[in-house]
Amino acid sequence: MCITANTYKMEFRIEKYQFGQEEKIHELIKKVYGEFVSNDYSEAGNQFFFDWIQPSKIAERQCNQINIWVAFMDLKLVGMIEIRDNRFISLLFVDKDYQRNGIAKKLFYESLKETIRRDSKLDKFYVHASPFSIPIYKKLGFKETDEMQEENGIKFLPMELDIL
Ligand SMILES: CC(C)(COP(=O)(O)OP(=O)(O)OC[C@H]1O[C@@H](n2cnc3c(N)ncnc32)[C@H](O)[C@@H]1OP(=O)(O)O)[C@@H](O)C(=O)NCCC(=O)NCCS
Repeated sequence: MCITANTYKMEFRIEKYQFGQEEKIHELIKKVYGEFVSNDYSEAGNQFFFDWIQPSKIAERQCNQINIWVAFMDLKLVGMIEIRDNRFISLLFVDKDYQRNGIAKKLFYESLKETIRRDSKLDKFYVHASPFSIPIYKKLGFKETDEMQEENGIKFLPMELDIL
């Protein structure tokens, strides 16, 4: 699928994850995480996160069902989203040079379409938002449900989106 949103300049396409892409996904997340997220986390939090995004672990999580969507500009992988339990944004990262072009929004809507297809009664979506991403999730319609939390050295704001 190829999207050129009226308000955005860049042309990109969203695809479902294919086995073999996990190294590139890992590289993207590691880079963007270092630029925007790691400063808010403790050393233990960063270690926990780096373990979660090991290429082998990314691939392993897709064995039963594909829950990752990726964004490409030509051949370059510039964004990714991973969903867990069919209702939770687990990872959402877009390359710094390609941000603010609607890529995260489109990644989220593509994943949302499929999660609703899988569960027609799905009424809410959830995220543990990193401090940086809170205003962006608010733009996507998410609302905070609690105060800022910290678990395993990772700071996050619990947020949810009403779907129905
Ligand atoms: C969060 C992230 C994935 C957003 O990616 P993106 O492709 O730039 O987002 P989009 O272009 O789809 O923007 C979605 C909305 O948020 C707004 N937005 C994007 N970046 C923003 C920013 N830095 N500050 C405020 N609003 C922002 C956009 O204007 C858009 O709003 P609109 O629908 O009213 O136009 C990206 O900034 C990122 O990778 N951040 C670092 C990693 C991170 O924190 N991930 C979240 C983990 S929970």
